[in-house]
Amino acid sequence: MSDIKKLLKKGCLTLAPLAGYSDVAFRRLCKDFGADLTVTEMVSVAGLNYRSKKTNILMQIAPNETPSCVQLFGRQPEQFERALTHPEVAKFDIIDVNMGCPVRKVFGHGEGSALMNDVPTAVAIVKALKKGDKPVTVKMRLGVNDKSGAVDFAKALEDAGADLITVHGRTREQLYSGEADWDEIRKIAAALTIPVIGNGDVDETNLNDRLDGVYGIALGRGAVANPQIFSGKRTLSRYEVILRHLEYGTEYYGERYVITSLRSFIPFYLKGIPDIKRIRNSAMLCRDRDSLLSVLDGV
Ligand SMILES: Cc1cc2nc3c(=O)[nH]c(=O)nc-3n(C[C@H](O)[C@H](O)[C@H](O)COP(=O)(O)O)c2cc1C
Repeated sequence: MSDIKKLLKKGCLTLAPLAGYSDVAFRRLCKDFGADLTVTEMVSVAGLNYRSKKTNILMQIAPNETPSCVQLFGRQPEQFERALTHPEVAKFDIIDVNMGCPVRKVFGHGEGSALMNDVPTAVAIVKALKKGDKPVTVKMRLGVNDKSGAVDFAKALEDAGADLITVHGRTREQLYSGEADWDEIRKIAAALTIPVIGNGDVDETNLNDRLDGVYGIALGRGAVANPQIFSGKRTLSRYEVILRHLEYGTEYYGERYVITSLRSFIPFYLKGIPDIKRIRNSAMLCRDRDSLLSVLDGV
């Protein structure tokens, strides 16, 4: 059995990397509810050389984060190889490579989703990382403009030594619009021998159906809306989830930072409650823990 299959079993549910959301506090919360794998926000391999404070913050690991996984992005295989010896990277159990980010600045540098149009570089990055002793995974989309090369691209990554691939069922051009194409994800899963994790538009309503034909599922926005999705039941109220998030965030970043960061989560956390607009708007104005908790009392 490959190392990755020892770390992640069939049917696994992972937290997709989400810049601005999957910080150490949120990852710890998702692990509490049973996420099988959590992945950091994307970290620049070029930035690793500068040992910036921001990079170190991105690469904290929660005590319950086993296995741990860091997502790296970049373009130069040598920089990925050098990253293997970086002390912050060395702490992680798994290295994931971002080959799906559609953002213009990243794409324009030939990084993220641009690598799907540059098979030799994508392959060289995987091979460079495989010189280390950790499992190497890749997160890709279905293509840049069209999906016709998706299976071949994934196969090239498998041949290069990738241990697992997560596929977001959209092209770069689609960004986050339209529906994720799960037929195409399943086609890739069927063509590969390594595990393929499907990703895109999964929430409580379709989770079980989506597991068909893939090794596991990566949850992004569905997990932000409800981190308890990993446990399959809502045992805590929204208030209790937010309180725990606030406590973890305060521990890692301090109260001021987490109150600001929670502003991105609250519209997701409150989805589905009556009177959402009034509560959300009041919550957005809160500047400290006590006022936030009093606005959210009872949700
Ligand atoms: C705010 C935001 C930030 C994201 N950041 C990353 C990232 O850092 N790395 C990555 O591979 N994908 C990133 N993604 C893509 C998600 O991991 C995921 O592929 C996408 O949201 C579709 O899954 P979902 O429908 O479950 O959210 C991001 C998506 C969003 C909405």
